[in-house]
Amino acid sequence: MFNNYEFYSAVRIISGLDTLSKLPELIQKLSASKVFIMTDKGITKAKVHLPVIEILEANQIPFFVFDDIPADGSVNSVYQAADQFFYSESDIIIAIGGGSVIDTSKALNISVTLTGKLEKYMGVNNLPHRLKPSIIIPTTSGTGSEVTAIAVVADNDKKIKLIFNSPYIMADYAVLDPKMTQNLPLYITAMTAMDALTHCIESYTCNSRNPISSELAFSAIKKIITHLPIVLDEPQNFNSRLALAEASTMAGMAFSNSMVGLTHSIAHALGINFAVPHGLCCSIFLPYVIEYNKEYILEELNELSLLFLTESEYQLNDKNTRVNLFIEKIYHLKEILERKTQLPSRLGMLSNVSVKDFEYIANKALIDGSIIFNPIKPSKKEIINILEKAW
Ligand SMILES: [Fe+2]
Repeated sequence: MFNNYEFYSAVRIISGLDTLSKLPELIQKLSASKVFIMTDKGITKAKVHLPVIEILEANQIPFFVFDDIPADGSVNSVYQAADQFFYSESDIIIAIGGGSVIDTSKALNISVTLTGKLEKYMGVNNLPHRLKPSIIIPTTSGTGSEVTAIAVVADNDKKIKLIFNSPYIMADYAVLDPKMTQNLPLYITAMTAMDALTHCIESYTCNSRNPISSELAFSAIKKIITHLPIVLDEPQNFNSRLALAEASTMAGMAFSNSMVGLTHSIAHALGINFAVPHGLCCSIFLPYVIEYNKEYILEELNELSLLFLTESEYQLNDKNTRVNLFIEKIYHLKEILERKTQLPSRLGMLSNVSVKDFEYIANKALIDGSIIFNPIKPSKKEIINILEKAW
C-alpha cells in the first residue's frame, strides 16, 4: 500500500535525434543571449561538446566554455566558474556532461543567482526563489540528474559533500539527443546503465515509493534491459542510445520523488571514501542488496520479475522462485557486462579497497541519507555481510 505523496517534475524534456538543433530556440524562449557552457576536460578533450558549439556558432550566439571541473565536482570549481560567469556576462548556463558536471552546474546557478556562500543554501528547500535559466545536456545515461531537484558537490578542503535539494534547482530544459551519447565508451555505458537500473529498482521497492514513480521506474527498467544489450553490440545505434537516455531520465524522475535505498548508501560510502565510480558501486552491490531486502519486498520484486523472466519462467514458477530467478538474472547481467565491457562484477576486483575497510565502509553507509528509505534498517553486521558476499 502506498502512503500519501507528492510528485514534482518541472524540467521540460526535449528528446530525440537532432534535438540539439532546438537550442537556439530554447535559449531565446528563456530570454537569454549569452551562454556559459559548463563541462569537464574529458568532454572537451574528446570533443563531445562540439555539436553544441557548432550550433551556437552557426546561430551567432556568444558562448564561454568552462571545463575545469574535477571528477567528483568541487566547491572551489563552482566559485571559479562563478567568476568566469560574471566576467563573460553570461545569462544562461548550459551543462554538457555526466552527473558531476550537471550537479556542479546546479551549484553554479545557486552561486551566481543568490548571495553569500553555498553552504547557506544546503539542505532541503533552502533556496528562496527560482535561479537563472539553465539547460542540461547529458552525455551519459545513468544519473538522471538532468531532472532531479538535487545537487551534490564535494568540499575537498573540509572533506564533506554539500547537498542541495530544492525544486528551484531544476533546469528549465533537459535535451536528450543520442548524438551526445553515441561515442560513450561501453565500460561507462554499462556502469551508468547499472546506476539507472539501481535507481529504478530502489525507487520501486523503497519505503517511500509512490504510484507515479513506480510506473516510471517499471517502464525505465523495460527500456534498459531491452536496449542495453543492443548498445553493447551496436554502440552507435541511435534508437537504443536514445532509449537508454530516456530510461535514465525516467529513473531520475522516479527516484527524485521516491528516493533510493541501501545499494546507494553503500555506493555513497565506497564512492566518496575510496574514489570508486558511483555506477560501478551500484552495479556491484545491487543484487546482494535485493537479496538482503527480499522478504520485505516480495510483492514488488515479483512484479518486476515479469520484466526479467521468460513467459514460461514466469508462468511455471511460484512467487518466491520467480524472485530468485530475477535476482539470478541480475547476477547474469553483471557477468555479461564484465565479459563485454570489463566492468568489474565483484568488490574484490577493485585494487583500492581491502577487507580491512569493511567496518569503515559499513559505518559510513549507516549514516548515509538513503538508508532511511530502505525497506528495512540494516545493522552494521548485516552491511559487512553484504560486503563480504560481494567480495
Ligand atoms: Fe545513483
